[in-house]
Amino acid sequence: MKFFIDTANLIEIKEAQSLGILDGVTTNPSLMAKEGISGKKNIFNHYKSICDIVDGDVSAEVISTNFNGMIEEAEQLCKIDDKIVIKIPMILEGIKAIKYLTKKKIKTNCTLIFSCGQALLAAKAGATYVSPFIGRLDDVSTSGLKLIEEIREVFNNYSFQTQILAASVRHTMHIIECAKMGAEVMTAPLSAIKNLANHPLTDLGLAKFLDDHKKSNK
Ligand code: G3P
Repeated sequence: MKFFIDTANLIEIKEAQSLGILDGVTTNPSLMAKEGISGKKNIFNHYKSICDIVDGDVSAEVISTNFNGMIEEAEQLCKIDDKIVIKIPMILEGIKAIKYLTKKKIKTNCTLIFSCGQALLAAKAGATYVSPFIGRLDDVSTSGLKLIEEIREVFNNYSFQTQILAASVRHTMHIIECAKMGAEVMTAPLSAIKNLANHPLTDLGLAKFLDDHKKSNK
């Protein structure tokens, strides 16, 4: 399973990279705004800074909602770095853009996926990744994990190359369940990634090991 971090915060990206387990970064306009990054030049510079930190794919989202605008943005974003993956919203104009970009061998991440049909459509268009938002589905009393399961079944049936990128991940159980279902990628905040390491028995066990060592090495 590839681990992406879902943030535009450079300090968090550096910390995740330093763990040695980071495979990429996903951003969105809200995450960029959260970091106070605005204006095309600053936004592009920020993407470059992210690309300079990580080894893997960096999703950069288009703002346009029409085909021509998306393609124009995608072509500019691609020039920032080879690591850039174009994040396209799940709308019909977006599907056309994904098809076009796929033919040009440009990687895409179809975002705002909330149904299996949307994932199927994006896969048909050749998306590199589909991003089902599991946490946001949970927020409206619908199982986000169930959606991952459905998409996995459909993609397996037809051997689609499109990778499931579980997004809007909120906690460790989301990550673990997605791993069990075979989502190729998950993107999560740094806190959820780091929480995977936590177990009270590990803390207790380590404290005892160190204490016993100290006692016998006085
Ligand atoms: O980057 C897309 C997605 O992961 C957003 O998550 O927490 O805003 O629902 P969230």
